Amino acid sequence: MKPYVYITRKLPDALVNPLKEKYNVHMWKHDDIPVPRDILMEEAKKADALFTVLADSIDESVLAEGKNLKVVANLAVGFNNIDLKTASEKGIAICNTPDVLTDTTADLTFGLLMAAARRIVEAAEFVKEGKWQAWSPFLLAGQDIHHKTLGIVGMGRIGETVAKRATGFDMNILYFNRTRKPEAEEQLGVTYASFDDLVKQSDYIICLTPLTTETSNMFTREVFQKMKQSAIFINAARGAVVDEQALYEALMAGEIAGAGLDVFQKEPIPADHPLLKLPNVVALPHIGSSSTETRTAMVQLCVQNIMSILDGKEPKTLVNK
Ligand code: DGY
Repeated sequence: MKPYVYITRKLPDALVNPLKEKYNVHMWKHDDIPVPRDILMEEAKKADALFTVLADSIDESVLAEGKNLKVVANLAVGFNNIDLKTASEKGIAICNTPDVLTDTTADLTFGLLMAAARRIVEAAEFVKEGKWQAWSPFLLAGQDIHHKTLGIVGMGRIGETVAKRATGFDMNILYFNRTRKPEAEEQLGVTYASFDDLVKQSDYIICLTPLTTETSNMFTREVFQKMKQSAIFINAARGAVVDEQALYEALMAGEIAGAGLDVFQKEPIPADHPLLKLPNVVALPHIGSSSTETRTAMVQLCVQNIMSILDGKEPKTLVNK
């Protein structure tokens, strides 16, 4: 019997064909509606491989159903939606999609910084809503980006790539990370700072840290209060790294100047969420890695990883080595 592969979002046939040629492949019928939990559980029972997205919670109970499950290939670099410990105990390989999305995610992150600093979204809406009456000296004046201090929290591959972009803007770059990065310091001219110093000194703070027990709720009200009043906070990592209520209160109290957010505690964030009512918040629907080229490469990497595991070979990007 051919191995059974279940894909939790509808994907283009052309990308899935290499799997279809070798395995019994089933796919959820929607690309924008999550697979219901009961169907995921049923599919997990049959599956040798699951192709998942970060909105799927691959927790202990899903893994417990997966008696034949050999691999979960997650269409993301982050894998906080998967119970890694249980998967490893059960010998289930967990694969992610690093590297192929680094540049694209860094582009979006820097774009978010630029949008928030220069009020690009607000200004575009202003024009489209017919509010532009006359040229005016300080119309929608934002903040400069060049020559300012950027603080990067989480200096992994994406952090370093954002830093590379920031050097083109002559920014002074601080970073905070679990471990120091001497090579990045040398090559990119970035300076290591404690979390406290980074938060106090930066004009822009970009959060790019993975979501772990240590980073969960790392940005509290107290942290926002330490930032400059002119600071702009960017989150392109995971929503749960930030206490969203604290961020809202800090913005309302004028303790920081703005925020650019690609990720939220609850995704999709409800349209009536108080954060979305603030003009100085630029909010995006978790599109960090979403260019056609990169999403294609990510799908191809998941396909390759599944094929490697089912063929008894070493996958390219295994998380639980
Ligand atoms: C990731 O890969 O973890 C991103 O958040 C998905 O866009």
